[in-house]
Amino acid sequence: MNDLIVKLLEFMKKTFSGVQPSGELHLGNYLGAIKNWVSMQDEYDATFCIVDLHAITVPQDPKELRRRILDVAKAYIALGIDPEKSNIFVQSDVNAHTELCWILNCVAARMGDMEKMTQFKDKSAKGDAQRASVGLFDYPVLMAADILLYDTDVVPVGEDQVQHVELARTLARRFNKKFGDTFIVPQPELTTEGKRIMGLDDPTKKMSKSAVSKYNYITLMDEPDVVRKKIRKAVTDSGSDVTYSDERPALQNLLNIYTLLSKKSIKEIELMYDGRGFGDFKNDLAEVIIEFLTSFQQRVNDISDEEVKRILKSGAKKANEQATQKIQEVKEKIGFVM
Ligand code: AMP
Ligand code: TRP
Repeated sequence: MNDLIVKLLEFMKKTFSGVQPSGELHLGNYLGAIKNWVSMQDEYDATFCIVDLHAITVPQDPKELRRRILDVAKAYIALGIDPEKSNIFVQSDVNAHTELCWILNCVAARMGDMEKMTQFKDKSAKGDAQRASVGLFDYPVLMAADILLYDTDVVPVGEDQVQHVELARTLARRFNKKFGDTFIVPQPELTTEGKRIMGLDDPTKKMSKSAVSKYNYITLMDEPDVVRKKIRKAVTDSGSDVTYSDERPALQNLLNIYTLLSKKSIKEIELMYDGRGFGDFKNDLAEVIIEFLTSFQQRVNDISDEEVKRILKSGAKKANEQATQKIQEVKEKIGFVM
């Protein structure tokens, strides 16, 4: 990076976000979060992380985890994150994340905050809550550490993560009040149509890789025939006209996916299918998704493991430089001898 760019970055607002390498990425991850990152990287000093420390809050197979970390990094790049503009790195390559997490656990986070976290309640209720890892409970504090280490102004995420960003705000304020101004208080940022992509088999729940049925989600690596089948089986609402309304959540979800992946507005799409029914609409939607996925998959295949490892290594170096400064400041403020 040349000096001019380094100078410019000083004046830019900062954005930070991440995805866990804990399953295949799906359309919800792209439309709810990563698509927004791509458009933000020109305006912001952007950092995008592969949050492997978050992934191990639930059991992972080591061999698979290693593969997935590289696959998520490749996906970021293939979806349009440009490593020349944005810093891409793996969370466990930067020790300051776990250090700051521990410090926030002790001096800022309270049991009362943590017990309100709905994701933990939902996730632990699915399994046996008593057997959930302590890490799963503490996961939002680690996320706050990720965000606060990089002086983040804006955190682009899907709606399910807003409560966690709110916690990061609370912890930043509490720390600043006790120890003096240290952290920027970050803002969450959502997209309109993509903030909550719903399950194709159940429009009352978000699309999720941990869903029981594979007909809930479309992964970014799904083959064309799989996409056609999943869209054909997607639930629709009663009636047969293609119109967007809150009373028809299944159709609304499909229309959101359609508009986000094509250059067409919802109005244009409604007009296109006026009097034609769901069949045509679904067939075309499947093709829109397939076109997007096919070119994405080609770009993924063009990136070698070596190339992505090189990018992650230089990303970790830069992230370490930034995070080390911040963690030193924090340690100094809480009374550690430096
Ligand atoms: P995760 O897969 O939980 O690591 O999520 C990565 C990002 O994708 C986060 O910003 C989530 O909020 C977002 N995300 C996950 N599922 C959805 C969904 N169904 N709709 C919109 N955004 C989502
Ligand atoms: N918890 C987020 C998720 O599951 C992932 C994440 C970890 C994250 N650290 C973050 C997102 C920091 C934004 C900023 O989706």
